[in-house]
Amino acid sequence: MIRIKSFRDEDLKNKIVLLRTDYNVPTNDKVVVDTTRIDESIPTIDALLKMGAKIIIITHRGRPKGKIDISLSMEPIARELEKRIKKDVKFINRLDEDITNYREEVFLFENIRFFPEEELNDNKFAKELSGMGHVYVNDAFSASHRKHASLSGIPKFLPSFFGLCMEKEILALDDAFSHPISPVVAIIGGSKISTKIQLLDSLIRNVDKIIIGGAMANTFLKATSSNIGASLFEKSCVSIAIDIINKAKMNNVKLVLPVDARVAKKLGDSPNAKNKMLDEIEIDDMILDLGIESSKIILEEISDANTVIWNGPLGAIEYKPFDQSTVAVAKELALRCKDTNSKVVIGGGDTIYGINIAGTYEDYTHVSTGGGAFLQWLEGMDLPAVKAILNSINGMQ
Ligand code: 3PG
Repeated sequence: MIRIKSFRDEDLKNKIVLLRTDYNVPTNDKVVVDTTRIDESIPTIDALLKMGAKIIIITHRGRPKGKIDISLSMEPIARELEKRIKKDVKFINRLDEDITNYREEVFLFENIRFFPEEELNDNKFAKELSGMGHVYVNDAFSASHRKHASLSGIPKFLPSFFGLCMEKEILALDDAFSHPISPVVAIIGGSKISTKIQLLDSLIRNVDKIIIGGAMANTFLKATSSNIGASLFEKSCVSIAIDIINKAKMNNVKLVLPVDARVAKKLGDSPNAKNKMLDEIEIDDMILDLGIESSKIILEEISDANTVIWNGPLGAIEYKPFDQSTVAVAKELALRCKDTNSKVVIGGGDTIYGINIAGTYEDYTHVSTGGGAFLQWLEGMDLPAVKAILNSINGMQ
């Protein structure tokens, strides 16, 4: 179990805290359309303010590649943050800004990715950034797989801690993956095997069953010479799918593939959606969701699971009724969390969209804010920003 020294045990009165958040939020014409990431940072901001600290928030938006792109400025986010914390937020954009000149307690720094040194993880830049404050707190779990100056560089120069949201993530993921209670079932969906090869490899070594859904299941079906009609699949990954099937067998991991599908002639052709067994699929049918039988099998396969890890939707959930298997599994997992001691950990933007359709977002052991970071954790790889904080904490002890 990871031991975490908290910023709450420090004396932060009149100290300047550099708080790294992930405010890479979706916007439409300067309006933030999903405030989840801002909301997630509020408990840490509130806690720091209560402790008497001043806060400079450092964050990023988009991929401006080291150049100023005004459409990716943090200024509109400062206004959104003000609404949440009910305090003025001073927007700043200079590294040598002396914040003691201002009455505000919360400052939002301009998009840190406007500086080319950020993504280069430039040591001098990290040192310069750290000169703006006395203590560093990272609450940006969803960016912690990036080895950037404001994430893994600053902790070399300042006493560093995890924020409350990040602390929750790390404890939940460590608990579910480092000390899982068997049987452990992984449900992996989404469209491409090519983005999940390392993940599948790591899961084969660590879980009892892997359930495959989404368009990536089509590539597995192709690898087993099943009929997939005109469905999307990754031709270049058929041999990888065969390899994964063999590795699963060798490691005694049960790989659960679809036996039927909900099909249509094209994406979005919802009125003509039909459930078909694989051998009934016609040459111009596209598989857009798992079928009724496959969903039943999945519910059966998870019925004895004590730990479930889920990443990737099982169908084309943005078009009804192709969200049905994802919604059915989301509801069953929510019930298992409520009625048994099973642990269910879910991550990835599209999967979160799926559990929101099911209306079950609040009902799991943990829903990770991380997309790439969640996957990298599942793959068993160190997250550079997490490692940097742990190193700083170890150095302080
Ligand atoms: C995210 O949105 O996943 C994080 O903010 C990381 O963004 P990036 O993929 O542009 O590094």
